[in-house]
Amino acid sequence: MSTSINFNPSLAKLPFSPIRLMFNAASQMSGVQHLSIGQPDFGAPPHVIEAHIKALRDGKTRYELDAGLPALREAVADRYNQLYGIALKPTNVLITTGCCQAMYMAIHALVRPGMEVIVIEPVFVFSHVIEQAGGVLRRIVTTAEQGYQVDPEEVIAAMNERTCAIMINSPGNPTGAVYPKETIQKILRAAEQRGIAVISDEVYDRLVLDNVEYASALRHAPSLDQVVVTSSASKTYAVPGFRIGWLISSEANITAFQRMHMFISTTENTATQYATVAALAGDQACVTEMVNAYRARRDWITGYLKDSPHFKAYSPGGAFFVMPSLPACRDSFDFAMRMLKETKVCTIPGGAFGQSCNNALRISFATDMATIQSAFQKMTLWLEKQSS
Ligand SMILES: Cc1ncc(COP(=O)(O)O)c(C=O)c1O
Repeated sequence: MSTSINFNPSLAKLPFSPIRLMFNAASQMSGVQHLSIGQPDFGAPPHVIEAHIKALRDGKTRYELDAGLPALREAVADRYNQLYGIALKPTNVLITTGCCQAMYMAIHALVRPGMEVIVIEPVFVFSHVIEQAGGVLRRIVTTAEQGYQVDPEEVIAAMNERTCAIMINSPGNPTGAVYPKETIQKILRAAEQRGIAVISDEVYDRLVLDNVEYASALRHAPSLDQVVVTSSASKTYAVPGFRIGWLISSEANITAFQRMHMFISTTENTATQYATVAALAGDQACVTEMVNAYRARRDWITGYLKDSPHFKAYSPGGAFFVMPSLPACRDSFDFAMRMLKETKVCTIPGGAFGQSCNNALRISFATDMATIQSAFQKMTLWLEKQSS
């Protein structure tokens, strides 16, 4: 007689991703236009590819130091120092398997079972990991009508003696909202005063589409002791398959995270660490070119949405997502699936990012302009039929 193994009950907190459900349905169909993808549609910059090939040819295929290739820790620190006028040392940086691993580590290291973590909805899917780690979500809801901006006073009012961490993500997935300096400063100061950790996912920091100064938590935190910043090369340099990311915090915190890292991946892919040095230290024109393309697409979409009676629009300040709400919609899962089947346009149901977002759709513009324009025309025709 066979019996099934008993999994740790915390695994039940991790749902099957609705994003995957959409992808799986789309993979059964031909000719689908994807406004669903959360990865750059650009290829990796040629000098980065060359550095990767060179590293392999030079025999860089052995284990590296557990905290990361020293040259990469230095390149990460240098790039941030140059961008944000700060003074990181390589020892403030731990190299991880993408931003995903950095987030997973930050959450599991900082969330204490039964205690609260403040998240801002719509929230990226790592909120499920908070629950898996035993944390209780304290949700602050933002809406398309407010451009998904959060009122820092609301975040401060939610802080209490049971709060162990706050998770922020600017520019955000799924909304593209970029928080102004005042918001970041207020949240960080209040958290510091109360001894609450802030996990700031800054994976889209270089994809800011308006001419505003980006407010990194690294620049505005009173001290790095309470702050963990996670990021990666994936989006900035269009290399999500490299799986190279990093976690930045005080030196003492990095030493603690190093112990955890030893038992997860120990060390990251050596050749792609070399290639990421070339990305960070090399010519940044490739980033500017990609940002210019995302901006042009964002502007076209924002103009289209503004004139559409079907969507509640706003202008996302960063990343490559927009999340308009659908006044006529009750269930985004049913809506996105029907739209996929009837128009072959794949979007992501807003409900994937929190219950309060079930009347919205996440639309990615990490795809070429012609596809975006044709997909929006199909969606509009379909939406007209739904309301007639
Ligand atoms: C907000 C956010 N954080 C983290 C990640 C993970 O990125 P990666 O592990 O590729 O660096 C993503 C990827 O989509 C993201 O959108």
